[in-house]
Amino acid sequence: MSKQPTPLSPTTHLIHPKRDVPTGFRSLAPGTERASTVLFENIDKWVNRSGADESIYTYGTSGTPTTRDLQNRIAEWEGGFATVLFPSGLAAVAYAFLPFVAPGDHVLVPGNVYDPVRGLANGLLKQMNVTVAQYDPLIGAGISALMKPNTKLVWVETPGSITMEVSDLPAIAKAAHAGGALVAIDNTYSAGWYLRAFELGADISVHALTKYPAGHSDLVMGSITAKDEATWRRVKDMALQTGQCCAPDDIYLVLRGLPTMPMRMRHAEKVALDIANWIKARPEVKLVLHPALPDCAGHDTWKRDFTGSTGVFSFVLHDQYKADAAARFIEALELFGIGASWGGIGSLALTYNLTKTRANWPHQGALIRLGIGLEEPSDLIADLTNGFAAL
Ligand SMILES: Cc1ncc(COP(=O)(O)O)c(C=O)c1O
Repeated sequence: MSKQPTPLSPTTHLIHPKRDVPTGFRSLAPGTERASTVLFENIDKWVNRSGADESIYTYGTSGTPTTRDLQNRIAEWEGGFATVLFPSGLAAVAYAFLPFVAPGDHVLVPGNVYDPVRGLANGLLKQMNVTVAQYDPLIGAGISALMKPNTKLVWVETPGSITMEVSDLPAIAKAAHAGGALVAIDNTYSAGWYLRAFELGADISVHALTKYPAGHSDLVMGSITAKDEATWRRVKDMALQTGQCCAPDDIYLVLRGLPTMPMRMRHAEKVALDIANWIKARPEVKLVLHPALPDCAGHDTWKRDFTGSTGVFSFVLHDQYKADAAARFIEALELFGIGASWGGIGSLALTYNLTKTRANWPHQGALIRLGIGLEEPSDLIADLTNGFAAL
């Protein structure tokens, strides 16, 4: 800027303002660094730049200090090598597969997987000639029988985000590693806060930061954290090749959400458990699918591997209550919104027709999933009471 002729025209001055460096300014809140262009000190630094070098800044797509701040915080709390951010949780899911598979490969996903993963399997992965086979989420060490010489990745989602089965991650990881495959986990349920994915054998941990980390139902974002540098490098390279990045303003909102995440999660855990137990006692309810309750498949694994539960759980109505009854229940609720996601401020309720997507789903009654928000628990119970009355 000092090389510019002076005085500058007002237009140029708008672009090159005299900036005061805020010496002596310290805040509890992080700044928000936005950039497409990143300026270099000299041509030598420009010529020798590399977008893959995270010790420097090169362009908006390879991140600003705001990006690095969030990446570092996630890698730190997960105990991984490093993290890459993606513009949605689903994008992060896709990029946990794509760098590690080639035509002719085979991957394994659980039968209770987050539904859009099925879309990825039947769409892009199929088009790439990658075969996706399903396994029973409760299979544990038995997964070794499904491993093939070309199995490159075993996907784990625990608990499954609708039916809540808890998988034996250490047993699955041991068998997958013995067969030469990587293990990637969708760790969104626990936000990595209640499940130490890397200590239990995962190589890759994926989050929809959309849920508890962001925490306020106002953005979508995802992350991939890798256990080691080689795995991280493959994800990072593909993210750079395809221009995957997030807006610093959205990243700031996640950074803003993080300090309250543990508190919000503890609150959600307590309220959701109280509500789950209250629902369990209702005569209309056949069973409650909540990992911290003994009815839930894999409950003992949850007790062994998790340090807490969160605000999302499901329940199954008695056989006579079908989809129309579930619709009456949900539409009678005023505080529970009808919409996807969870981990945000407001409570949500949805019903899923599992007979379409799950082989051998054993229940005739409708399933309802709740995401408990931050409302006063007694108001939520009163709302749910109206839902049961509408049955
Ligand atoms: C378990 C799980 N994984 C991933 C995602 C995808 O996250 P996003 O909504 O940010 O794409 C979701 C979203 O509901 C989810 O429930």
